[in-house]
Amino acid sequence: MLELKKICYHPATAEEPVLQEISLIARLGTPLIISGPSGSGKTSLIEIISGLSKPQKGIITFRGEKIKASKRRSISGVVFQFPERHFIGLNVLQELRLGHRRLSHEEIYAALKRVGLSNINIKKTPEELSGGQQRRLSIAVQLTRNPEILLLDEPTAGLDWSVKDEIIKLIKQISSNIILIIVTHEPQIFKSINVSSYQLRNRRLKRMPLQEP
Ligand SMILES: Nc1ncnc2c1ncn2[C@@H]1O[C@H](COP(=O)(O)OP(=O)(O)O)[C@@H](O)[C@H]1O
Ligand SMILES: [Mg+2]
Repeated sequence: MLELKKICYHPATAEEPVLQEISLIARLGTPLIISGPSGSGKTSLIEIISGLSKPQKGIITFRGEKIKASKRRSISGVVFQFPERHFIGLNVLQELRLGHRRLSHEEIYAALKRVGLSNINIKKTPEELSGGQQRRLSIAVQLTRNPEILLLDEPTAGLDWSVKDEIIKLIKQISSNIILIIVTHEPQIFKSINVSSYQLRNRRLKRMPLQEP
């Protein structure tokens, strides 16, 4: 179990706090869907959980114990938004090895199998794969590191409906033995699977005057 208690994040370069008093729990086996409009701090929250940035206030615990940013980095796998734009391997095999340099063939096929890509030719360039296969590959790259926490930033953004379905099915399959955290602006499309949810508020709304009834 991963728990955030009253996390506040206010980077020096931001005029206002990006995250205020965020408390949530993510459990093994049940994906946590964090939703919120654009600018509500979803990507920042992924960066904090995965140890890429540090909150100013609040505590993060993993299996009941406080966990530092450096440790969070080592146990987290992050798939950022539009991961296919950042493929740099010349082929699928090279791309997978970016996640873990000394991968054995068994480990390569285990990662590909977990994301339903066991039949692809690993000598293909990542660009030759379909949109859904590319998203699967970027998840496989993170899985090669055997993360305890897998974080997906907008995994269904920019995909057509059939491919969104493909990714939802994959999320259902991989969620059984990992803490899976998904941030999305379209939480309704995850309704077909058993998830827990957390909603971030729109920061800009806080500055709007209350309307009289
Ligand atoms: N390091 C930073 N410096 C300044 N502003 C930031 C920083 N990180 C995030 N922000 C601001 O915080 C807000 C939330 O950003 P982000 O986490 O990317 O939201 P989301 O992913 O929900 O769209 C944005 O307005 C962004 O400009
Ligand atoms: Mg974002």
